[in-house]
Amino acid sequence: MASWRPAGPVQPGSSLARHVLDMQRASPGASGNFTGLFQQIALAVKIIHSRVHRAGLAGVLGLTGETNVQGEMVAKLDQFSNDTLVKCAESGGHVCVMASEEVEEVIPVPLEEPAGKYVLMFDPLDGSGNIDVNASIGTIFSIYKRRTPGEGRGTLEDCLQPGRDLVASGYAIYGSSTMFVYTTGNGVYGFTFDPSVGEFFLSHDNIRIPKRGSIYSINEGHYHSWVPGMRRWADWIKKPEEGKKAYGHRYIGAMVADLHRTLLRGGVFCYPGSEDKPEGKLRLLYEAAPFAFLVEAAGGAASDGSQRILDVEPEVLHQRTPLFIGSSEDVSDVLGFLQET
Ligand code: AHG
Ligand code: MN
Ligand code: MN
Repeated sequence: MASWRPAGPVQPGSSLARHVLDMQRASPGASGNFTGLFQQIALAVKIIHSRVHRAGLAGVLGLTGETNVQGEMVAKLDQFSNDTLVKCAESGGHVCVMASEEVEEVIPVPLEEPAGKYVLMFDPLDGSGNIDVNASIGTIFSIYKRRTPGEGRGTLEDCLQPGRDLVASGYAIYGSSTMFVYTTGNGVYGFTFDPSVGEFFLSHDNIRIPKRGSIYSINEGHYHSWVPGMRRWADWIKKPEEGKKAYGHRYIGAMVADLHRTLLRGGVFCYPGSEDKPEGKLRLLYEAAPFAFLVEAAGGAASDGSQRILDVEPEVLHQRTPLFIGSSEDVSDVLGFLQET
């Protein structure tokens, strides 16, 4: 009898659900809660994917008219994505507390739902400025174990953990296809969504970021507000010299999209501080730490200019940080310029 296996990435054995289950089986003492939480996150991502891909038709483009805790206009899809993640995660019984870029305080698990041992934090929709122009956007998430003793609801203290204590982080990118990329600190894996099956399948096994790339990614419109070291680096990186080509420049304006490219191709992404905003724009807990965990797990580096992002101890939920992240040699070049007096 002829055996049949589906061609291409659509193989039952390579689904995201199966991958996470295998990771769980390989970790002694795992209870299944982590796998359950992942399933709920993947479900939320599928729902957001579906809404993003018919955004123009579904009447969800534009702004809600409200301003979020970061002082930014809230897009309807920001709100939808936030609510979807909260609903999916709280109904799984795996989390004790959540936090979102869009919500000022921690998000408690409702009393009628059981609470688990994990802490979930997310940027529900990254790059919302790109929504109305049909460019790539994403979702970023991070998972910690609670650190307060006991069971039941978690607190703010459970959310204020340094990135080195992450259990997992990942992102979804809603681009020309939708992908889900995650790490538990041991290998970075990318899955591509097959909408006809409704599942993610492994398409990028064990992603490794090159030691050096040829692309730099930064909003150069802020050049005149940077410190002199940053400006010298920006002049140097595009200047051909003996033994060094000029780097190309790419900036999509959604860090998920810029960092997805950086993970796959190498290079460096920077969001430095400026004179009026020394901490820059990006948020430590929802953006910088989860990506630092992914990029380090892929062999790259991430710094705030003076220390590893993963070593920064958060003090407040919506803390911002400068970010220099990507190929290790490219990051160390920027840091060299920043540390020159
Ligand atoms: P968000 O849409 O979640 O607020 O994030 C936008 C962030 C980030 O994705 C991107 O790298 C950066 O803002 C772009 O900022 P500039 O427009 O200042 O370059
Ligand atoms: Mn963001
Ligand atoms: Mn966002």
